[in-house]
Amino acid sequence: MDKNEIIQILNDWNFWNKEQKIGVLRPDYLGRLESLLSSNQVITITGPRRAGKSFIMRQMAKRLINNGHNPKNIMHVNFEDPRFTESGVLFLEKIFSAYLEYIAPTAMPVILLDEIQEIEGFEKWVRMMHELSKAKIIISGSNARLLSRELGTLLTGRHLDLTIFPLSFGEFLSFNNVTLTSKNNLFFQEAEIKGLLRKYIEFGSFPEVVLSEQKKEILLTYFEDVITKDLLRRFNIRKPQDLRAIIKYYLSNTSSLATFKSIERSLEMSITSVKNYTGYIEQAYLVFPLKRFSFKVKEQEKSPRKMYAVDSGLSNAVGFRFSENLGKLAENVVFMALKRRQVLNPDMEIFYWKDVHHREVDFVVKEGLKVRKLIQVCWNMRDEKVKNRELRSLLKAMRELNIDTATIITEDAQGEERLHDSRVQLIPLWKWLLAEQGIIGKTPAGF
Ligand SMILES: Nc1ncnc2c1ncn2[C@@H]1O[C@H](COP(=O)(O)OP(=O)(O)O)[C@@H](O)[C@H]1O
Ligand SMILES: [Mg+2]
Repeated sequence: MDKNEIIQILNDWNFWNKEQKIGVLRPDYLGRLESLLSSNQVITITGPRRAGKSFIMRQMAKRLINNGHNPKNIMHVNFEDPRFTESGVLFLEKIFSAYLEYIAPTAMPVILLDEIQEIEGFEKWVRMMHELSKAKIIISGSNARLLSRELGTLLTGRHLDLTIFPLSFGEFLSFNNVTLTSKNNLFFQEAEIKGLLRKYIEFGSFPEVVLSEQKKEILLTYFEDVITKDLLRRFNIRKPQDLRAIIKYYLSNTSSLATFKSIERSLEMSITSVKNYTGYIEQAYLVFPLKRFSFKVKEQEKSPRKMYAVDSGLSNAVGFRFSENLGKLAENVVFMALKRRQVLNPDMEIFYWKDVHHREVDFVVKEGLKVRKLIQVCWNMRDEKVKNRELRSLLKAMRELNIDTATIITEDAQGEERLHDSRVQLIPLWKWLLAEQGIIGKTPAGF
């Protein structure tokens, strides 16, 4: 490719000569990115395919320009652009020199390298650019390990990470043009918000899915894309049908306990394949494992894991039937909200809790050495038996972990249960999601 052709392609991604579509702003991520950018480090953005990484990079470019940067001093290169016919570090160098020559930046540029894992050996180039202060660099990729494999050793202590997930419930409301009129009184908007929550659970929150009418079709296309582009093309997978089966298994069995052995048995494949494939699927951000809480790290590591999907819409489209599994999908939504929180607070760890009598608590949130929260998701509080079971489990865990408050997230039950010194707050999911993001105040006092 000659430099002219390269610049023509880059023109389509950059603000040099024209405006670009930046979509709906995602201020939380932009704020975070802006503060990372003020450090002298390479920034890596990772997250599932289609979560909105490229759009956020473009929004960041726009924000820099709004803050006074000359558009010429920002270059966004998306290596997924099929018009790029070369690759490798030499190509990267060629792109950079075309940029210097044709666009002529006037100060140290900010370079956004999108889906950089397509370029073999990019790490050394990034390090060189960083060390020689030739540019500020933000890179992105849809695979956790591929991106960090060498970068970790080459840039030890010199890079900062940001993980981008599909929309939070707050972002989802703004994508649906809903602005909350008051932080404290949502009486008039409650019905609308609850209606949207149902959609959020059913179709999930990949940005394009949220904005389109063809929700299920898009979700199924994403599913296929991840399998072909992120998994089959990158890893040595001898039996694609096994890979597919195992993804479907995880997406249909979110929140259920699973050991490699039990999957080996129910899907009839070798335990080595189950382990390897599971690793690949996690790297592509399709599912996340959750381990059992224990004070002993060893026990924690060998405990059976639960799997949660990156998006409830994806598990609903690929996995199971909505109406029968609302509770499970809601639990998945809570898990992902906690995951989003973890991005901002790397000290935070999430577990489930279970004792020898099979009493369970869905989520234990730990910060540093302290257990901060116990959360039970219960969609069926009207059933007294269920309610009592959930409460008993919580109280047992509260005693064992020495914490005197806990939360039950419900469909719409609200209130407080008190037992001796223990308090359990009941809160509807929509409220919990918004309070968790600090969008509305926390009810009642103390929680
Ligand atoms: N902030 C946004 N506003 C509007 N649409 C968005 C936004 N982010 C993503 N999208 C939609 O989702 C699609 C995938 O987003 P993209 O940024 O390309 O994801 P990624 O780079 O993570 O694969 C886009 O093509 C666009 O349709
Ligand atoms: Mg992209």
